[in-house]
Amino acid sequence: MKKIFITGCTGYIGSHTCVELLNAGKKIVGLDNFSNSKREVLDKIKQITGKNITFYEGDMLDKTLLEKIFTENEIEMVIDFAAYKSVGDSVSKPIEYYVNNVSSVLSLLQVMKEHNVKTFIFSSSATVYGNPEMIPITENCKIGGTTNPYGTSKLYVEGILKDLYQSDHSWNICIFRYFNPVGAHQSGLIGEEPNGIPANLMPFIAKVANKELECLNVFGNDYDTKDGTGVRDYIHIIDLAKAHVCGVEKLNKEKHGLYIYNLGTGAGYSVLEMVEAFQKVNNIKVPYKIVGRRAGDIGVCYADSSLAEKELNWKAELGIEDMCRDAYNYINKK
Ligand code: WQD
Repeated sequence: MKKIFITGCTGYIGSHTCVELLNAGKKIVGLDNFSNSKREVLDKIKQITGKNITFYEGDMLDKTLLEKIFTENEIEMVIDFAAYKSVGDSVSKPIEYYVNNVSSVLSLLQVMKEHNVKTFIFSSSATVYGNPEMIPITENCKIGGTTNPYGTSKLYVEGILKDLYQSDHSWNICIFRYFNPVGAHQSGLIGEEPNGIPANLMPFIAKVANKELECLNVFGNDYDTKDGTGVRDYIHIIDLAKAHVCGVEKLNKEKHGLYIYNLGTGAGYSVLEMVEAFQKVNNIKVPYKIVGRRAGDIGVCYADSSLAEKELNWKAELGIEDMCRDAYNYINKK
């Protein structure tokens, strides 16, 4: 049976997508260098699904390894999750980010082309919209004006994929622009586990609730929003993973094309609304204090995800309470 090749398969989004694809009866070959994940995630995926994946440890920049993977496995398509994703880190390490997030994709695309595997799902980000020209954001919104190397690296790869498709219409590409993925698998066996102090809101709240961190700093309450704090489109990681199953079905049906979808819920929640929901659903206090704005932040960002609903027959089903419950359940279980 042909396999789906998943890079970054033990990462936060990669591991949850593996679970949903295995549950949908797909076969998987995975690659990870454990730069932002742990080998034990492979066992957790097996524990959740009862299924194994073929796994290779290594880096997408290692073309010899990629050749080996494509030679030893019959691959029907590739889903690429392997990227560094810390906005703050990317500002201080631009070369590492462009090498890891752009050069590695070029290395992958070269090997895919050599093996005539031209079906590809790429994980992009709402960050490519920069400071969005309109809210809610549709896929036709202008992209660019990214304010950090992480976002710019995603913008560059989107441009590479558009040029690739223009050069050869036999490619079959889906670009997913993630909004704010949060939460964890209901089992509590896999979830988001950033190294060190989390940069993102939900893992930070979870660590404060779990008394691993003292207090949440709320970055600004002077935005033009209902309570002055930043508004984002948080999407449960399970809904996001299920969208990839729909993406696989879409590309299997279409055979060629270039498709771009926002993956969000279409609802925006403020920082204080998230804190309130987290406290309520987990019956726990999350101490916080209002501090100054974080450089590079925008006030409001949430998706119009109607195109994915229409063309992928996919819609986010889990709400903010599920996100808060599952995020806390995961950190509690570790
Ligand atoms: C959310 C809101 C902060 C932390 C980034 C990337 C995006 C994606 C998700 C990878 C904002 C506020 C946060 C804290 C806070 N990453 N906040 N205190 O910045 O919307 O998106 O992460 O794909 O590409 O750009 O997410 O979770 O960092 O912030 O007040 O300690 O929470 O100001 O309003 P962001 P975030």
